[in-house]
Amino acid sequence: MRLEYMSILRTDSCSGSAPDEATICRSHILGPTVESSPISREIAGLLDSYQPLVSFMGEYDRAAQKPGVADLTVGNPQEMPLAQFVAALRTWIEPRAKDHFAYKMNVPAAQRAVIAGLRERRGVTYALEDVFMTNGAFAGLAVVIRAVCDAGDEVIYLSPPWFFYDALIRAVGAKAVSVKVDPRTFDLDVAAIEGAITPRTRAVIVNSPNNPTGRLYPRATLDRLAAILERASVRNGRRVYLISDEAYSRILFDRRRYESPTESYPSSFLVYTFGKQLLTPGERIGYICLPPDMPEREAMRGAITMTQFVMGWAFPNATLQYAVAELDRACIDLAALQRRRDLMVAALSDAGYRVHRPEGTFYLMPRSPWPDDAAFTRHLRERDVLVLPGYLIEMPGYFRISLTASDAMIDKAIPVFAAAMREPVPA
Ligand SMILES: Cc1ncc(COP(=O)(O)O)c(C=O)c1O
Repeated sequence: MRLEYMSILRTDSCSGSAPDEATICRSHILGPTVESSPISREIAGLLDSYQPLVSFMGEYDRAAQKPGVADLTVGNPQEMPLAQFVAALRTWIEPRAKDHFAYKMNVPAAQRAVIAGLRERRGVTYALEDVFMTNGAFAGLAVVIRAVCDAGDEVIYLSPPWFFYDALIRAVGAKAVSVKVDPRTFDLDVAAIEGAITPRTRAVIVNSPNNPTGRLYPRATLDRLAAILERASVRNGRRVYLISDEAYSRILFDRRRYESPTESYPSSFLVYTFGKQLLTPGERIGYICLPPDMPEREAMRGAITMTQFVMGWAFPNATLQYAVAELDRACIDLAALQRRRDLMVAALSDAGYRVHRPEGTFYLMPRSPWPDDAAFTRHLRERDVLVLPGYLIEMPGYFRISLTASDAMIDKAIPVFAAAMREPVPA
């Protein structure tokens, strides 16, 4: 996958663990009261927590270089990009005026294209001032969390989660609170979320359809969640926000219609990336939208923009913004993705795996036939099939398959999965 940033994060030469008060060494040059740790304690703590992911990615990056491997690890393209995507970039790289590449915040043409797409697909009309262009959902989530949270606030995320919720929450000094989904249905456990809400709860992150379970949360569940968030907001005397991570909202199977959590609860942020729909996560563009019925949206507009400034001009590049109308109309071949899902679910079930049928996203989450999913994943890697062990996403005993692999990779992997099932479970 070449997650270069992962290799950069490796801390072989420093401990990577969070220095505590007692162990922080003090510089003689700077004086006895100045901490000489080269990095912030916040970041040192994150490096420490993310070391398992970082070291897995190091091994994975090396394994993925081998010619002929079946790479089913992450949602990265394994085939050439969409021609429409390349054509749109070619069109818009050409300057049309002297300010073509001037500083850009939200390019109105991009905002209008986002609004038109959402109106057409969802029947909801967003105001121009409520659409904020971002560097994908990654930045969209970081901006929203920073805009609403103070140090000491709590943000609930649902487990199994996308890798970086914990880091984005902790990076602003807030506390990340993990709440498990229902282990049988992978649907939200609304009672468990309610039980996790405290007076410090500021937001709940909901990702539907979900990476990694592929579950699309039904309207009835989202309405129940909305009711408890309304009650909690009244009880706490301040808003508990819903942050709706809709990264995969256009990656749906079986002609399903998208149910956005933002339509159940007005105090929501819609966060989107084009990185999934186009399978171009290296060209960073997405957006945040404030629902038309959000009570505090005027105050929120200034807060989002100021946060984008202080996060280092967190707006996407001009060329990508000009291209949004074309990008919004393009999409990877969902029929091919669905065929791969069907093929893989059938093959794994036939081989004896316990696997569910995802309703969307790129991912399948089968149960590992060995209790130690790390060992099972290594066993597959030795046979040139690369997958993600569940322990990295709070799902030990499972492994994750990405269907963004090519058909040839899927064909190569299926007999390896079947053979692995017949192997004795190591003692
Ligand atoms: C659930 C989820 N949210 C957010 C993101 C971030 O998306 P992007 O890197 O396109 O901004 C990802 C990427 O894998 C994801 O899976």
